[in-house]
Amino acid sequence: MIVLVLFGFLVHHSIALKPNVLMVMVDDLRPALGVYGDDNAYTPNIDKLARKSFVFTNAFAQQALCAPSRNSLLTSRRPDSLHLYDFYSYWRDSVGNFTTLPQLFKDHGYYTQSIGKIFHPGISSNNTDDSPYSWSGKPFHPRTEKYKESKVCMTAKGILARNLICPVIVDAQPGGTLPDLESLAEAEKFLKEYKDEKPYFLAVGFHKPHLPLKFPVEYLEHHRGEVVLPVNRWRPSFMPTVAWNPWLDVKNRDDIKELNISFPFGLMPDNVTKEIIRNYNAATSYIDDLIGSLLEKIDNNTIIIVTSDHGWSRGEHGEFSKFSNFDVATHIPLIIHVPRLSNTEIIIPQLVELVDLFPTLVDLTQIVPTLEICNKNGSNLILCTEGHSLVPIMVSKQAREGKKAVFSQYPRPGAFPSEIPDSDKPRLKNINIMGYSIRTTRYRYTEWIKFNHTTFMPDWSKVYGKELYDHLIDALENMNLVTRPELNDLINSMHKQLILGWRFS
Ligand SMILES: *[C@@H]1O[C@H](CO)[C@@H](O)[C@H](O)[C@H]1NC(C)=O
Ligand SMILES: *[C@@H]1O[C@H](CO)[C@@H](O)[C@H](O)[C@H]1NC(C)=O
Ligand SMILES: *[C@@H]1O[C@H](CO)[C@@H](O)[C@H](O)[C@H]1NC(C)=O
Ligand SMILES: *[C@@H]1O[C@H](CO)[C@@H](O)[C@H](O)[C@H]1NC(C)=O
Ligand SMILES: *[C@@H]1O[C@H](CO)[C@@H](O)[C@H](O)[C@H]1NC(C)=O
Repeated sequence: MIVLVLFGFLVHHSIALKPNVLMVMVDDLRPALGVYGDDNAYTPNIDKLARKSFVFTNAFAQQALCAPSRNSLLTSRRPDSLHLYDFYSYWRDSVGNFTTLPQLFKDHGYYTQSIGKIFHPGISSNNTDDSPYSWSGKPFHPRTEKYKESKVCMTAKGILARNLICPVIVDAQPGGTLPDLESLAEAEKFLKEYKDEKPYFLAVGFHKPHLPLKFPVEYLEHHRGEVVLPVNRWRPSFMPTVAWNPWLDVKNRDDIKELNISFPFGLMPDNVTKEIIRNYNAATSYIDDLIGSLLEKIDNNTIIIVTSDHGWSRGEHGEFSKFSNFDVATHIPLIIHVPRLSNTEIIIPQLVELVDLFPTLVDLTQIVPTLEICNKNGSNLILCTEGHSLVPIMVSKQAREGKKAVFSQYPRPGAFPSEIPDSDKPRLKNINIMGYSIRTTRYRYTEWIKFNHTTFMPDWSKVYGKELYDHLIDALENMNLVTRPELNDLINSMHKQLILGWRFS
């Protein structure tokens, strides 16, 4: 199948010069944004961008963990094709010499630059952010990111701690700044000094609102009001234990540790949940402000994308953080501004996925005429996609159908939550179960099945848990309907669609 569409051609001809591309990745950002209807949010800059953009209201990540999600987005291949579910393999050395999104732009007349967190740093990008393949310039990482785990959060008792909730006075921080302020400065410097004839592909990755929730204290000013708690602060009825993520990363922060929350199912006190939501929103206002500054310096012939690697639960289902297959962990914001094509806010409600971004940008810029769909055996093709261009659903009212379903997955070491191995973030060698999840407009259906971490083969005959949530009556995924006999036909049909997978949706 071929992804080239007529509309890409139209876009191409209406733009005299190839447009620049600005891709902004916001780490762990769920759609807690004004434009996505979050009343607790204060995000005027992203909302303003949205008023001249395509706003995807049903966009999903392939796995709710940074490295697998980012490598998937950047290669347009799913975690199963990259064999990456943790942080510890690099696809070029482990599966194939696959071309990345920035690499294709670099090879076709663009100057590509990475600032901040685009690839997950470390082994999964060969400790080089996939240089030299993906980037023309040397990737930039903020110096002060090294204080990420430092005791720099002031507590009520006046001591410094390694807290989750961590509003700070910037001047008093080690290095006198914060990582995202450094990244913004570097991006602005790049834009000011860039004089090349070539268009650029600039990727800017902000670290917040990833934990710790460390941000300039003044952003709390927008969040003094009452915080509305999620109404579903408990485990869904009939939820299998394998689906539960015990949010160890949150429990291990000093301020949360003090609460002695029992492992694995203990609940966060409501008053602390409120403060987490308040501070997450304040950290998001901080990033929104930085994005606002950046956008002021962007010229009007630039495609602008604002998105995230996955969501983050804030008390929904009694859970925090990512590490699951629920909507709160997989649902992401996705905003795309295309010069001359989007002068107003255009809501796109169709189901879309992060793997779709690569073919969409190729389609919009026509840097190569076609991107093939990757073939079935994981693919020896160096350049192909496991997504679809979104341009047809963006530009054509007739083609507004889109995908029937989207897919996410999450691994587990065992059927019951564990601290060792960490069932939120199992390493490949400990992965024995894979939760495969399909989301249609109406349902989320998940099967947690046996998985062989050496052959990468799932065994659909050995099931550790199943979940079915009906979004028509239960948008928050509170009631697992999978045990209801009257739904057997539906469950069988979802099971078949799940096994067939993304190629048939
Ligand atoms: C992988 O791809 C890169 C860039 O296309 C190329 O330079 C390199 O030689 C390839 N490596 C192998 C082992 O084929
Ligand atoms: C990854 O890094 C190692 C060590 O720096 C290097 O030897 C290897 O060639 C790199 N892999 C690729 C595909 O560039
Ligand atoms: C948590 O446990 C510690 C040590 O057992 C105890 O000193 C502390 O008071 C407990 N805190 C709460 C909030 O229960
Ligand atoms: C939550 O309430 C407890 C007990 O009422 C109190 O000790 C604690 O300081 C409160 N925590 C926050 C973050 O408001
Ligand atoms: C972009 O800016 C230039 C120069 O300010 C202006 O001439 C042009 O009309 C603008 N184009 C769009 C699409 O706004």
